[in-house]
Amino acid sequence: MSLNDTEISSVRYKGDHLLLLDQQQLPEHTVYLNVTTISHVWDAIAKLNVRGAPAIGIAAAFGLVLWAKQYKSSDLSSFHAELKEQHDYLASSRPTAVNLFWAIRRVLEAAKKADSVEHAVSLIESEALLIQKEDEETCRRIGEHALSLLQNGDALMTICNAGGIATARYGTALAPFYIAKEKGWELSVYANETRPVLQGSRLTAWELQANGIDVTLITDNMAAHTLKTKNIAAVIVGCDRVAANGDTANKIGTFGLALQAKALGIPFYVASPLSTVDLATETGDDIPIEERPAEEVTHIGGKRIAPEGIKVFNPAFDVTPAQYISAIVTEKGIVKGDYKNQLPKLFEEETR
Ligand code: MRU
Repeated sequence: MSLNDTEISSVRYKGDHLLLLDQQQLPEHTVYLNVTTISHVWDAIAKLNVRGAPAIGIAAAFGLVLWAKQYKSSDLSSFHAELKEQHDYLASSRPTAVNLFWAIRRVLEAAKKADSVEHAVSLIESEALLIQKEDEETCRRIGEHALSLLQNGDALMTICNAGGIATARYGTALAPFYIAKEKGWELSVYANETRPVLQGSRLTAWELQANGIDVTLITDNMAAHTLKTKNIAAVIVGCDRVAANGDTANKIGTFGLALQAKALGIPFYVASPLSTVDLATETGDDIPIEERPAEEVTHIGGKRIAPEGIKVFNPAFDVTPAQYISAIVTEKGIVKGDYKNQLPKLFEEETR
């Protein structure tokens, strides 16, 4: 199934430009940024106009396409050298979500098979389109696998936005809600608002409501009480990087939710495409955690809510240790514990 032109989508490739859904303007305005250069893509990633691990990777891959299409010389070795520089430039836009590095590395590798610049441009374009297409299929499979952990009528909880607009389509943690709806199931979800940038209220609540899914918004400090009193069947979240031992980086506040879920005996599920599993990162301690501008904490909607000059700590992500994760749901199936031994097997099966 592919997206039609009226469906909301985070990244649309238009040959000589990209349309990026401006997620900073949601839910008030549904507008697309018209992006024509790689530096504009870098900016859009850094400023969270496009965000969510898979969507960042897709946007960056197309950033390299835009650059390649604008390349003027026919010297293939200079092309490769400059492509690597552009790769490194995009890699500096955000540090935590491994999908960014995974996607642009794929593009770089694809270009190596070229025998001319023209050929390289075409290989790069095909690879970016493939990354986007595969992500849609991957998310759908994650949704289907996740449903096997759930029952019709379940109420769940999530944080941040791991939905269709954070991916090519369907999302990861939100995919089961869409697949459930197709099957005629009724799942409901409590969405944590997700301070400081409010991806939960601005994006998840908007996205699910627009798609007719039963969503209730809470502030982050209401999570424990809601988990305890609302018969929540499970917490399900997305992720930005899963280390080889299963430790998982996701939006700040995720670790707190995992601790609460553990204390209350509620399963805690991580929905993760294999593109987010980074076997080269041994443990969560090795995952770089992005720190973002103080203004995200001192201001809401441009209005100051903290005293001038206050010291601010603003980590965008935290790491949930593997021991708090009941299962990791991937497109290749579900892993429950023993992540260090089980996660590599998913990749082995992929290459068979
Ligand atoms: O800072 P963001 O909005 O890019 O953070 C996004 C998240 O933490 C998501 O949960 C994660 O990237 C998974 S998106 C399918």
